[in-house]
Amino acid sequence: MENNYNPIISVRRDFDLENIFYNLATNEAVIKDPDLKKIYSYLRTEVVPGSLLSLGAGPTHLHYVIPVIDLITCVTALDLSKKNIEVIKEFFRYIGSLKKSEEFKSDIIKNTDIQILQCLADFYCKIKKRGSGKGLLLKLLEKSQYHDKADLIIGDMHDFSLMGERKFNNILLGFSLYVNSEDQLLKFFQHAKGHLNPGGKILLIDFDKFSNDDINGEFLEDDDVIRKCPDSLDFSLEMLLNVLGQVGFKEKNISTKTIPVLTDGLEKERGYEYFFATIKN
Ligand SMILES: C[S@@+](CC[C@H](N)C(=O)[O-])C[C@H]1O[C@@H](n2cnc3c(N)ncnc32)[C@H](O)[C@@H]1O
Repeated sequence: MENNYNPIISVRRDFDLENIFYNLATNEAVIKDPDLKKIYSYLRTEVVPGSLLSLGAGPTHLHYVIPVIDLITCVTALDLSKKNIEVIKEFFRYIGSLKKSEEFKSDIIKNTDIQILQCLADFYCKIKKRGSGKGLLLKLLEKSQYHDKADLIIGDMHDFSLMGERKFNNILLGFSLYVNSEDQLLKFFQHAKGHLNPGGKILLIDFDKFSNDDINGEFLEDDDVIRKCPDSLDFSLEMLLNVLGQVGFKEKNISTKTIPVLTDGLEKERGYEYFFATIKN
């Protein structure tokens, strides 16, 4: 069956030149999007030193780890969609070309996609008043290696055998926890708990409701994902807290934030309510 999903479209929807650009007068990197700024500041505040595993990392994986790369030691990305992982690999190939000062050509990503990634990296160096965007991207590539290969896993996040014996300091779930039942949600957190190092955290960011309509409609996904999760559950905060309690997590800090509508922001048509959950053993 043909799979028409094109991940670069999701990247360009969430990271666009209207919101991420260089100020023409000063040449400084600017991020205008309030959603992204809130997500970045949450990540920088909550991430603990050590490793980070991003589950359902998506084609935007690098875009989300840029702000924390100086705070962590290594990063692993897992996604069910081979096409998403290919996009991440293509960005890695671009970063690798920086090291060798080679010309970069790609059928998957365009110059504007590269400019946005570079701008995010430059923005973070500006905030930290240290380093260069290029240096940060090279660090990102360096910290994304495992046994001398890019630490990218294609597979189902509910299958924790993919991680072997590996444990992590941070497990990030950015808009990616799709489950078919409450029981699957419970099992997921039981496994995730077992793959956290002492003091480790699960960082969960999502809209306060994630419905099946969203998977099939506005937030288009790879057919492989839709097949795996045909009846994606709208899990409420209450259900999440109940499950986390059953699994035995001691700390569950959950905050919600509605980020208002902007006429030219990410949320072009409506404001979204987000929840940010930090879960600890
Ligand atoms: C809405 S996207 C979010 C991507 C990225 N984290 C972000 O915030 O932009 C959801 C991602 O989760 C992935 N995903 C959904 N269910 C999955 C599963 N069971 N195992 C692995 N990845 C999954 C999808 O392929 C997709 O990349």
